[in-house]
Amino acid sequence: MKVHHADIVISAVDKKQYPETDIPEIALAGRSNVGKSSFINTLLERKNLARTSSKPGKTQTLNFYLIENSFHFVDVPGYGYAKVSKTERAKWGKMIETYLTQRSQLRAVISLIDVRHAPSKEDVQMYEFLKYYDIPVIVVATKADKIPRGKWNKHESMIKKSLNFDGNDHFILFSSETKQGKEQAWSVIEAYLEL
Ligand code: GTP
Ligand code: MG
Repeated sequence: MKVHHADIVISAVDKKQYPETDIPEIALAGRSNVGKSSFINTLLERKNLARTSSKPGKTQTLNFYLIENSFHFVDVPGYGYAKVSKTERAKWGKMIETYLTQRSQLRAVISLIDVRHAPSKEDVQMYEFLKYYDIPVIVVATKADKIPRGKWNKHESMIKKSLNFDGNDHFILFSSETKQGKEQAWSVIEAYLEL
């Protein structure tokens, strides 16, 4: 998809702040610094519409982006960021859980995992959570440019094994640097959006 219009609608914390429309949504989930905001920018061909940072913890709110007036990307704050207090973490958990379990227009969650490492405990928990609530998952393995091509298959198998990956879900090897996986990601997203 070639995107002409993309804009942030709102940075929300509370359910009352979610946009009051029923257009479909695709949310991004993953560890802090895994490349969620970069993924959005790559798909939209924008440099920094979704703010990125080399420091983890950049995205702190649910950021709703309206794309072509037809759907929302929802950028979600990352988990696993060490420098966060217990209270902050609990608030974060509540915010994500409320959104993921109560937002009826949510069509799928893109679960991003760093292709270089074994999924963290939280990556596995997120995947299990989404499966439990029957929310369709697209696993995107990010930063593929950081490992040699010859190791892609091995890393993909390792990630799938750790997640107890459901063969009906999509798995996409991706890089915001090289744009690898961009077209595949769009076609899977469009299918979920029924565009
Ligand atoms: P939070 O908002 O903190 O949860 O992080 P995020 O998941 O949104 O990560 P973000 O997109 O801000 O990217 C974090 C860092 O990783 C930035 O320095 C990006 O440039 C870098 N990065 C993201 N994707 C890729 C990729 O595919 N390849 C490489 N080499 N670097 C990437
Ligand atoms: Mg971010």
